[in-house]
Amino acid sequence: MGVIRKAVFPVGGLGTRFLPATKAIPKEMLPVVDKPLMQYAVEEAYAAGIREMIFVTGRNKRAIEDHFDTAYELEAELEAAGKQALLDVVNAIKPDDMDCFYVRQPRALGLGHAVLCAEKLVGEEPFAVLLADDLMVGLEAQGGPSVLTQMVQAYEASPGTVLAVQDVPRADTRRYGVVDVRGVNQAMAEVFAMVEKPHPDQAPSTLAVAGRYILSPSVFERIRHQPRGAGGEIQLTDGIAALIGSEKVYAMRYQGRRYDCGSKEGFLQATIDMALANAELGPAVRQHIQTLGL
Ligand code: UTP
Repeated sequence: MGVIRKAVFPVGGLGTRFLPATKAIPKEMLPVVDKPLMQYAVEEAYAAGIREMIFVTGRNKRAIEDHFDTAYELEAELEAAGKQALLDVVNAIKPDDMDCFYVRQPRALGLGHAVLCAEKLVGEEPFAVLLADDLMVGLEAQGGPSVLTQMVQAYEASPGTVLAVQDVPRADTRRYGVVDVRGVNQAMAEVFAMVEKPHPDQAPSTLAVAGRYILSPSVFERIRHQPRGAGGEIQLTDGIAALIGSEKVYAMRYQGRRYDCGSKEGFLQATIDMALANAELGPAVRQHIQTLGL
């Protein structure tokens, strides 16, 4: 087992940008091609050596628990019908050596609050946080590491809090947590300040945090004592910012691509790219797109 053993998946958000689809279905269960966003994130954590998956859920999120549970009738039907390939697909969702834990976030008070809800299940060890609505494609297709695996490797080299960052257009800083690395332009740089959703004129840089974190357990104490931040929410960014100065916080420029699947545009881009990359569907989808004569 790796040095990071636990992953927290905050799935307590309301997903309002995706209404009406998310009225009764969690946005994390929306499928890109044939797999829910949630499963992509869990597979990324598993590939990084993590075996304890902690879901911070809310109302309307039961489909997530069901997805990672045994589906006895379905499995029995597939077995009786001799549909072994499909049975393998279903069984692979939760490998035997993976454990799932669930805790409720009673109210959607913000991402920091969601992470705090996992405190008792995480305990006193560093842990990963993955936002499933950010679909991350690392270097897997070339036989390389996923984004979270890159982060775990970075953590092993330089223990501390590790944030996955990417360059964004300055006009977009208002949508992200933004870090100040004092102009250091390296794959791994120390963070000196961090601010949530800054106005483009006030953003300390254009390095934005994507939905992947390796956090020190001391962040819980910081979140507990912080006031509400941007948008009146209890922000994870503020908890991490409070660590700066007493613990190392690093920004890691990951290799790969992020799709913001919490937005319709990002979700559609992911769907097109993943369909084109799919061995079975790719040729037909490419052909269809060509007929559009764009
Ligand atoms: P978002 O900012 O995307 O919010 O949350 P949201 O409510 O899910 O979606 P919109 O904006 O209404 O469409 C970022 C991440 O933080 C989680 C969400 O599930 C998402 O993964 N989150 C947010 C929580 O778990 N709890 C919260 O209180 C807020």
